[in-house]
Amino acid sequence: MKGLKTVYICSECGHQASQWSGQCPSCRSWNSMVEDVISQSPKTSAKHPATKYNNEPVRFDDYEIPEYFRTKTGLGELDRVLGGGIVNGSVVLLSGEPGIGKSTLLLQISGALGEGRKVLYVSGEESKGQIKMRAGRLGVKGSSLYLLVETNVDAILAAYKKLRPDVIIIDSIQTIYTDSVTSAPGSITQVKDAAMRFISLAKNEGVSVLLVGHVNKEGSIAGPKVLEHMVDAVLYFEGERQHIYRIIRAIKNRFGSTNEIGVFEMTEKGLKEVPNPSETMLASRPKNVSGNCAACVMQGTRPIIAEIQALTTQTMYPSPKRASDGIDYNRMGLLIAVLEKRMGLRLSALDIYLNVIGGLHLSETAADAAVAIAIYSSMKDKPVPDDLIAFGEIGLSGEVRAVSGIDQRVKEAIRLGFTQIVLPYKSADRLETNTQGVSIIPIRSIIEITKLL
Ligand code: TYD
Ligand code: MG
Repeated sequence: MKGLKTVYICSECGHQASQWSGQCPSCRSWNSMVEDVISQSPKTSAKHPATKYNNEPVRFDDYEIPEYFRTKTGLGELDRVLGGGIVNGSVVLLSGEPGIGKSTLLLQISGALGEGRKVLYVSGEESKGQIKMRAGRLGVKGSSLYLLVETNVDAILAAYKKLRPDVIIIDSIQTIYTDSVTSAPGSITQVKDAAMRFISLAKNEGVSVLLVGHVNKEGSIAGPKVLEHMVDAVLYFEGERQHIYRIIRAIKNRFGSTNEIGVFEMTEKGLKEVPNPSETMLASRPKNVSGNCAACVMQGTRPIIAEIQALTTQTMYPSPKRASDGIDYNRMGLLIAVLEKRMGLRLSALDIYLNVIGGLHLSETAADAAVAIAIYSSMKDKPVPDDLIAFGEIGLSGEVRAVSGIDQRVKEAIRLGFTQIVLPYKSADRLETNTQGVSIIPIRSIIEITKLL
């Protein structure tokens, strides 16, 4: 067709090239170039009117921060991740694998958001009947909640003009298409263009926009990871489908911190907040079993106690099997190497499995000490005392390094009834919490864990 051009676009960084290549010339990621068809007409010129160059620089000291108003979503755990609610006029991308619960969550909050404010829920995936049925199951009432089943951006914008809602939910951005781009819905150019239209709507009209983005197996939002650069906040829905816990993490937030997580439990009636994750994660701890050790990790401002399980068995393979769920695979390898070298443990003859209960992903190195203790406990088949908890980073020489947030961690451990707290020697000096009745066990080196069991 005339005016159309085939291009190759990197699904990681959005780089555009006229020829396909195995590696993106811009961001160097492999196999990320996908074919797309774009229109060559200079349609974008209208978006950047050359005549409007009237932005003057303003002196930093003279500029006053505009007031950002936030709307509570009705789910405290979600508000926590957002930094206190959705900032009016912002664009939030909620991404996660299909079936993880994105539509459920958004339908739940649209009920609460709709109290006094208008919410437009646009679905490109489900019929009104399906949505209404689900809303009934979730107990969502919506006197000011409006449904629209539509996939065309212009039609959605027209509906916006008529209704003037305060919040628009687009479920999902991959199903939306614009006529100005010729490629198929879900292609990178389509998704980018459609998202751009909603972003300008948010910035011009002050409406808050929530976009749902499906993620493919590799973990990048199907097609455009590029979307992440365009929106104000990116929330990521984590958890295994078969687990009942769901975790929402902010991986980008222009209006808040990115360390916070929100913990939810899946129920028949939708997602339920878990305001006290430590208690939940420890709820069904087995007693007197080797290979289990509690760790205290910081998730943003909040300490969370997680249980780490290790299982070591004689290997049947030429090279031993290592599997990890919830702990970074490379970190696990490093800790095994340190245990082997510094403590002389013969781990190379063993298969090692690691697991964090409840579907938590621990990225903090403060979990190292508990991982090491769990592996050692399983190997020796000696249980770790139930009331023992450990945290501390382990270095390559086997030294236990100081971690931050020491008082918060110790307080949380005491609150949950732990009476033996293993921590880095250097951190122990800085401890200000009253630890009466609790034994604080400072350790300098990984070798000292032998005396704990
Ligand atoms: P859904 O919200 O449709 O996932 P997504 O929009 O991310 O693809 O949820 C998938 C299924 O799980 C759906 O059949 C509803 C069910 N579900 C519950 O029953 N309870 C819950 O708390 C959640 C989150 C989902
Ligand atoms: Mg959905």
